Amino acid sequence: MATHRRSRLPPFGSIPFLSRRRLIPVIAGLLLFFGADYLGVFDSWDIRAHDAFFRVRSSRPTSEAIVLVGIDARSLGVLGRWPLDRDVYARLLDKLDEAAVVGFDLILAEPSAGDERLAEAVRRNGRVVLACYFDEALNLVLPAGPLAGTQVGHVHIERGIDQISRSLFHTISRPGGPVPSFSAAVYGMFRGGRPWAGRNPLPDFRPDGAAGRLFQTDHSRINYYGPPGTFLRISLADVLSGGVPESFFKGKIVLVGATAAGLQDRSATPFSGTRQEMPGVEIQANALNNLLDGTEIRDFPLPAAWLGAFLTALLGLALFIRTPERTAAWIWAAGLAGITAASYLLFARFHLWLGPALFYFMTAYVFLAAYLLKLAAAARQLDVKYASLAGHFAGGGDLGRRGGKKGLIGLFTRNGINEKISGLLEIEKSYEGTLEAAVWRRTRELAEALSMVGRMSNELIVRLARAVESRDAGTGNHVARVALYSRIIAEALGRPLDYVEAIAFTSSIHDIGKIGIPDDILLKRGLLTDDEKEIMRTHARIGYGILAASEHPRIREAAAVALAHHERWDGSGYPAGLKGEEIPPEARIVALCDYYDALRSERSYKSGLDHDTAVRTILEGGPDCSPAQFDPEVLQAFRKSADKFDDVFRRHRDDAPPAVF
Ligand SMILES: [Fe+2]
Ligand SMILES: [Fe+2]
Repeated sequence: MATHRRSRLPPFGSIPFLSRRRLIPVIAGLLLFFGADYLGVFDSWDIRAHDAFFRVRSSRPTSEAIVLVGIDARSLGVLGRWPLDRDVYARLLDKLDEAAVVGFDLILAEPSAGDERLAEAVRRNGRVVLACYFDEALNLVLPAGPLAGTQVGHVHIERGIDQISRSLFHTISRPGGPVPSFSAAVYGMFRGGRPWAGRNPLPDFRPDGAAGRLFQTDHSRINYYGPPGTFLRISLADVLSGGVPESFFKGKIVLVGATAAGLQDRSATPFSGTRQEMPGVEIQANALNNLLDGTEIRDFPLPAAWLGAFLTALLGLALFIRTPERTAAWIWAAGLAGITAASYLLFARFHLWLGPALFYFMTAYVFLAAYLLKLAAAARQLDVKYASLAGHFAGGGDLGRRGGKKGLIGLFTRNGINEKISGLLEIEKSYEGTLEAAVWRRTRELAEALSMVGRMSNELIVRLARAVESRDAGTGNHVARVALYSRIIAEALGRPLDYVEAIAFTSSIHDIGKIGIPDDILLKRGLLTDDEKEIMRTHARIGYGILAASEHPRIREAAAVALAHHERWDGSGYPAGLKGEEIPPEARIVALCDYYDALRSERSYKSGLDHDTAVRTILEGGPDCSPAQFDPEVLQAFRKSADKFDDVFRRHRDDAPPAVF
């Protein structure tokens, strides 16, 4: 069943106290992350991912059109100290006649003796780009004197707070016109002779109103091709000495720059970390190569990034709320991996940068928020349970007085969750005690009720028997006496207590069959005829018939007693003439007791015997009586306890009030 399968995950609305009203502040809190993102709070986490992605992706092939000519330590050794005479660069240009473009990543702002000759070489070559920069006052610093008319490009590379170079702006707009980046200027010249115009020049840029300010546009993250040394690098000294044929440079872009470690024009890159720095000219080569193959890394559009992060966080929130904590934690972990993978895929495959940190933090926030909401819901449930329990146990000390703040906030206040938990533990303890007492009391009540029902049914039966008996023998104390005698014999025989109780009951209804004897026989004054005796004797079978079919064992025992209480040990009794142990033991006891009581009782046709005579008659025999008719064991017990029989007979005479036994 579908609903059953889903029931492990509590649906949104089913979590108590987790209403939409409580979710709205959580969702509103998400918006704060955009402000933090705008302020760059997550940048330091993003750049870690950014740099790690480079190392995971590793190196890729560079353009064969780009060649670096490095002013390395060896060149300085051969050509003299830094700064080199500009005549050296003029000679270099003469060697690079066949190059497509020559870019000098060198600041040539200080006037120098060789400027004229270099300017002449630049004019001759015709395809040269020089470096310019903006000083601290944001003034454009161009190459010195005669070189000032040459095509320039700015060499600013953006460094992060960790001094790692990651990006540049291809266009810097200023009063007087936009300045392209060095790589953009070289690229433009290589492609069509004019500087690259940029993707995104400022349309409303007004030179007059913006004096003293710069606008940086065309932001581009450098998609590095590998660690330092990935681009082909030739020593300046080798080129000048003719060690490299001029034809080698045919159609190539030659970038000239300082590569000697002592010249300080170096920076760390994502590939190198801070350990191995890259010469500035190679960084320019990377940026240029990006323009050539179109792999510069562009930023993912901010609105789309924010929307993506927001929707991801909402999805996470819905999942976290609907799942148990453990599952939610797994989903979150999987989500982090998925976000990282997506960010990497955009980077490596589509050259788009979508920083994962905002996603990390927003999903972490909703995970925590969902957890707290669930915790708060649990705390509120605890409050409700507590209140209802404290109500039940209002009498149980100070439990009811513990108010405190409700819900999760209660964790931080006096009389809060901790106090309530100890209160609940107290309740549990007192509950166990109460439960025990209640079980004990109920058990006792049940036992009393059962015993009352038992006593009631016993009494009912005994009263019935007495009613039957009273028809021919006054108050009916005969049945009470027989019951008491039977008890005495059973005790004298050493029978257990429940046997004694049972025989007191079964013996009390031994004559219940007399209900079926016609009055003219039962109430006849004088001796019965033989026929009447036969009828009288049927009371044994009638009594058995009344009792035998019962489902209660004790009444079935009583049936056996009713049937056999006139049987005799020697086989002379009725109705079946059973002998010895064929007669049920209880019937053997009742037989003697009934016989003793009959001897003592006065009837219309006889007087009653005194105790001693009755005892003697039974033990030694008399008219119509022989000791052989009794079970010898029962007889022996009677011998021991006969005094008590007299006691019973005296106290419960027929004219005495009905006896209790
Ligand atoms: Fe009888
Ligand atoms: Fe009897």
